[in-house]
Amino acid sequence: MIEKLKAIEQEVKVLILNNADETEMFRLKYLSKKGLINDLFEEFKTIPNDQKKEVGKYMNILKQTAQEKLDSAQVKFSTDKQNSSNIIDTSLPGDAQKIGTQHPLVLIEKEIFRIFNTLGFSLAYGPEIEDDWHNFSGLNFPENHPARDMQDTFFIEKDIALRTHTSSVQIRLMEKQSPPLRAIMPGRVYRNEAISARAHCFFHQVEGIYIDKKVSFADLKQTLYYFVKEMFGEEFEVRFRPSYFPFTEPSAEMDISCTICKGKGCNVCKYTGWVEILGCGMIDTNVLQANNINPEEYSGFAFGMGIERITMLKYNIKDLRVFSINDMRFLQQFESE
Ligand code: DAH
Repeated sequence: MIEKLKAIEQEVKVLILNNADETEMFRLKYLSKKGLINDLFEEFKTIPNDQKKEVGKYMNILKQTAQEKLDSAQVKFSTDKQNSSNIIDTSLPGDAQKIGTQHPLVLIEKEIFRIFNTLGFSLAYGPEIEDDWHNFSGLNFPENHPARDMQDTFFIEKDIALRTHTSSVQIRLMEKQSPPLRAIMPGRVYRNEAISARAHCFFHQVEGIYIDKKVSFADLKQTLYYFVKEMFGEEFEVRFRPSYFPFTEPSAEMDISCTICKGKGCNVCKYTGWVEILGCGMIDTNVLQANNINPEEYSGFAFGMGIERITMLKYNIKDLRVFSINDMRFLQQFESE
């Protein structure tokens, strides 16, 4: 029997397997349940016990040789096998194509632009890293004036900071273009504030300016009334409260009747029935002059609003942090918008 085993082992050794089919034939012939090697093991049971040790050794060598040959051939031809199973079944329904959703802040930014665009406002952008002139001094924030502390600033170096508001883009626009000017300026702004449901160290604003001959506070009010009606609907009331900003005089803050309780009083509006949505005013003559615009000839208004605030009111969102944590369960709700 040993001779027979040696002969089969030799036969296995010299065999060359050229493809997946030959490999499978080899497996069936030698290593399957009904294969030669199993038959030999059956035969092995019948030989006298004193020969078993010696014969067993050759049995194992043969089995190992065949198994190794099979393993390496299977690895070699497995990609071929995959390719053949990759034949496209054109009768299967296609996979649904998942497209991304627009972020709610993007949706609202686009809507803000759509509304102001109908009034002739164009779009302008400025850098997020700003110098002192564009973020403060050019906007009539005197040096060492406490108004600079209205916004907690991330300084990069002395006079260079992450912009605290998009009002800086007003200055950049006035530098580049002369009146009449009518533009809105969206972008990200940064403040050194602790993150909570109501505050974040970065958020988004849209700034707006309109400079021309004879622009009045009535134009400002009418423009913002129109914006609120378009954004939130006819049923909301608007009110202006006097306020202070260094770059506008007079200045105001605009409130709308609470979108959640419709003015009845709830915890979003702190039971006042009103929520603040923006700051605005007539551009201070100091700002016009600093940018070589003659205040005798031109006047203008400016306003600035937080995009997060508008989005929260529009979609009834109570926590600002959801905008930046990329939770798919939140973002997917805007799929159809
Ligand atoms: N820059 C102000 C802020 O971030 C918002 C603002 C108020 C902008 C009044 C204006 C304005 O243009 O006139 O709080």
